[in-house]
Amino acid sequence: MSQIRLIEVESYEEMSRLAAETIAAQIREKPDGVLGLATGSSPIGTYDLLADACAKGELDFSGVRTVNLDEYCGLAPDNPFGYRYFMNEHLFDRVNIDKANTFVPSGTAQDMDAEAAAYEARVDAMGGIDLQLLGIGHNGHIGFNEPAEGFAPNTHVVELAARTREANAKFFEKPEDMPRYAITMGVGTILRARRILLLGGPDKAEIMERAAHGPVHPSVPASALQLHPDVTFLLCRQPPRAK
Ligand code: F6R
Repeated sequence: MSQIRLIEVESYEEMSRLAAETIAAQIREKPDGVLGLATGSSPIGTYDLLADACAKGELDFSGVRTVNLDEYCGLAPDNPFGYRYFMNEHLFDRVNIDKANTFVPSGTAQDMDAEAAAYEARVDAMGGIDLQLLGIGHNGHIGFNEPAEGFAPNTHVVELAARTREANAKFFEKPEDMPRYAITMGVGTILRARRILLLGGPDKAEIMERAAHGPVHPSVPASALQLHPDVTFLLCRQPPRAK
């Protein structure tokens, strides 16, 4: 029996409000806790609300530590299409976090396998993740754990699925700039988080339903979340309003 709580809300704004409240409560409860963070379009509204709360003095990020899910291979931290850049722009540069306490896997390490092992060890050394924020791919990927033969236990390098490359190519200047490989936390890394919150828009309704209530199988990586005791899926019925 799946224990995943699947909560449907009307709007992207409502989903972002609930997610930001959950994260804010986590920070207030454990000011030096570890947040697992995601990029993509789903969490942007959440990050905006957290930045607003911090600007108003309602939330203090000074002790917070963060680890991100993933990064494209080949993209340096200052690459505007990379995930370190995304996180700085959408959250870290807008709150009073100590950047030295924010971690995103390196996409440009000389030895990417060694980087993956070091990243996994870092998450452990930080005491594990208190609250992991996730989005989900149309194919059920979490982080960049694509449908595979098995669930990856640890941070590793992956070849991105054709569908993921198509979905994300729009974020790059030219579709051919879209990287083929990424470094990502494993499904196991994610499952070791103490609490998990996954966000998705209307185009993800079907895959979220399958992940929450279908068979647990690596062909739908997010279905592994059924094995975790504290997972909430927030599904919004309407996409964000165009700005
Ligand atoms: C991003 C990540 C991906 C996205 C997923 C959904 O760090 O790990 O798994 O969460 O591709 O992306 P959006 O939110 O753009 O639909």
